[in-house]
Amino acid sequence: MAQEKKGFSHDLIERNTLLLIVLTLITISIGGLVQIVPLFTIESTIEKVDGVRPYSPLEVAGQSIYIREGCYNCHSQQIRPFRDEVERYGHYSLAAESMYDHPFQWGSKRTGPDLARVGGKYSNDWQVAHLVDPRAVVPESIMPGYAWMKERPLQYTDIGDVLKTLRIVGVPYTDEQIANAKADLEAQKNPDADTAGLAKRYPKAVVANFTGNKTVTEMDALVAYLQVLGTLVDFTKYQSPKQLQQ
Ligand code: HEC
Repeated sequence: MAQEKKGFSHDLIERNTLLLIVLTLITISIGGLVQIVPLFTIESTIEKVDGVRPYSPLEVAGQSIYIREGCYNCHSQQIRPFRDEVERYGHYSLAAESMYDHPFQWGSKRTGPDLARVGGKYSNDWQVAHLVDPRAVVPESIMPGYAWMKERPLQYTDIGDVLKTLRIVGVPYTDEQIANAKADLEAQKNPDADTAGLAKRYPKAVVANFTGNKTVTEMDALVAYLQVLGTLVDFTKYQSPKQLQQ
């Protein structure tokens, strides 16, 4: 049976491979341009948000341990803007909140809960008890324990250089912050120390002797880091760019 005559152009495209390739490429390019070009016209893809600051020296050291131990294999740090996530974890993550993370810790694997706003959710003591033996506080937990970290001294003689290196990749540490790195690290672990300088340089840094040990241990650093996560932006005052336009 003779084939019914279809539209001329479609027939031509289907029979001519080269034409099909060329037209496919043109179609894909238009799609790409529609997605990419608007990004060049906006000033920044990261919104400006009050409160976000570089990590304090003790928090930076804690983040290194978080990365070293592979906590990101089980925990993400990015609350997506979906209702179920926002109700469980709090305000969805803003790009600005992780702009000083090198490398970023968004992750995609959630064997455990998202940690983007875990700061302040539990007491320091709970965090230490949980890291030592998760099942002591959450009986059904499958998280591994990190008890040894509570005694292991933190290596931080190079902390000033760490901040300097982070400055090279764009974290705006000041000369003052770099010069005081070691002192600030020790002050954050010692509630009896003069922490005025630390509080000025790193607002909202949680000061405590987290583990109760005399020396600064790896767990002190890790808990200082966990306790600041997601606490820097005041969401009672924050307005999204959309709200500001209204
Ligand atoms: C094998 C996967 C796994 C690894 C690795 C892991 N965790 Fe967890 N984590 C979990 C699970 C599961 C839970 C939920 C049960 C619980 O609270 O223990 C959890 C819970 C937590 C919580 C409590 C979160 C909340 O909102 O209740 C914190 C904090 C935490 N983990 C920190 C860490 C840190 C820090 C590391 C690395 C030193 C780490 N985890 C490594 C699986 C893991």
